[in-house]
Amino acid sequence: MTANVTRRSLLKSIGVAGGAGVMFESMRALGLVAAPQALAVPDYRPPSVGDLDAGKRGRHVVILGAGIAGLATAYELGKAGYRCTVLEAKDRVGGRNWTVRGGTSETDLDGHTQTARFAKGHYLNAGPARLPQSHITLDYCRELGIPIEPFINQNANALIYNEQTGAPVQQYRTAKADVYGYVSELLAKALDQGALDQQLSVADKDRLLTFLSGFGAIGDKADGFAYRGTDRRGYRVEPGAADQAGEVLGPPPSLPDVLASQVGRYFSFEFGYDQAMAMFQPVGGMDAIPLALHRAIGAEKFQLGAEVTKITDLPDGVEVGYRDKRGKAQLVTADFCVAALPPHVLARIPTNLDPRVASALRFPTVNPVGKIGLEYRRRWWEEDERLYGGITETDMDLAHIWYPSYGFHGQRGVVVGYYNTGKNAATYGSLTPDQRIERALAQGAKIHGGKYRDELASAFSVAWHRTPFIEGGWVDWPSRTSGEYALLNQPAGRVYFAGDWLSYFIAWQAGALDSARYAVSNIHDRVRAGG
Ligand code: PHE
Repeated sequence: MTANVTRRSLLKSIGVAGGAGVMFESMRALGLVAAPQALAVPDYRPPSVGDLDAGKRGRHVVILGAGIAGLATAYELGKAGYRCTVLEAKDRVGGRNWTVRGGTSETDLDGHTQTARFAKGHYLNAGPARLPQSHITLDYCRELGIPIEPFINQNANALIYNEQTGAPVQQYRTAKADVYGYVSELLAKALDQGALDQQLSVADKDRLLTFLSGFGAIGDKADGFAYRGTDRRGYRVEPGAADQAGEVLGPPPSLPDVLASQVGRYFSFEFGYDQAMAMFQPVGGMDAIPLALHRAIGAEKFQLGAEVTKITDLPDGVEVGYRDKRGKAQLVTADFCVAALPPHVLARIPTNLDPRVASALRFPTVNPVGKIGLEYRRRWWEEDERLYGGITETDMDLAHIWYPSYGFHGQRGVVVGYYNTGKNAATYGSLTPDQRIERALAQGAKIHGGKYRDELASAFSVAWHRTPFIEGGWVDWPSRTSGEYALLNQPAGRVYFAGDWLSYFIAWQAGALDSARYAVSNIHDRVRAGG
């Protein structure tokens, strides 16, 4: 065993026994963290007021942006005895964590104004909408008393529609039965023909065949290991009492037809670490998170409608110029600044920082992202299709259709009619809000039929890349090792940066939260050391 392995297994057992905070302290003690240029493991133990002697309390930090990173920065610094001022250009907090309800109004960069007309209790989480079990976001929900409920990210009754292959719409359960069935049949035949005798012992072959028989529901050796379809595919006529055996949906298409339909191409999504069930959502809308943080921080710390115009790093502080909501130029000075704006927005603000900072801020590429909420008068997906939550996958440019994970058996519901990125989001984003509805309905009706259009009550769409002060869905780093990422994870003088874009959790609130905690612990260490 090498020294490294020993250390790692030691840390693992410390982590298991004492939690991440204890582990972080142990790593510090072992000299594994806190090299100033190195990225530390996120410190899950936020600083507390007792960490600072009286003379070092009350330092003032100006925070740019009240998205999740800015809010978490103010929240954690506030708990540790710092004074905070938060400047937010929009008239609300949360950033991309935005829940659209009846009455929500927004004007985009193209001058289109939409006002949502969703019925009471119905909403669209226009930004983040699902929380994995592993993310620190759930710890914040617990700490802030935000109730959560399951978010259904996978549903065997949800559909797959690959228009370009000409294959019919089918349920996930059917597609999985066929793909797993034929793959199992093929592998069983290959094993039986000795194709893998080099790799496998007789006992291994036997065990693998046993697995394949269950995994694919295939026939035995005498039956040639054939996949013939089972009730895993679903029923044409549901079984019932007495003599009603039901009628299994079948026979399955041929192996070449299943391959040609490409139905298997979405299966791996749920294998993703972040996308596997169980997942969660705050009850009543994702904006419960920013609203609870805002309340905990204190409304008086916020300047809404405040657009940052200049950032000046000084030897003993930071000066930030902004235009207040009345359009008046204002200046705020502080000991430190945490800039928690999107990098491409931050890059345009004049500063006196090292010019390498501005070019690093321009390095990540910005991804367009769009979503539409389609409110229906009737929950036809539940009533007619027995589809309770989950996601339908398509190769159309709407990409995904989400059925709501709340309000089951109620009157109405908001379906996410498209959620797309990249080229598809750019296509939808370039349309007017009415044209987006029309395109989403035309595409969705190919899957769900005429009711998809006829039963619509109202709609609201967002194109994040056309949204003022945000101007993108999320960013991608062409490289994280070419210097820019590391540079921005360090302070530029007294200016620190935070956001999901400075984490390995891009496009997740957990990234914003972890990044904020990283900035907070770095500021705190500096203050503690007398800086
Ligand atoms: N977090 C976003 C989502 O769940 C974006 C994302 C998609 C991130 C897929 C990773 C994988 O939709």
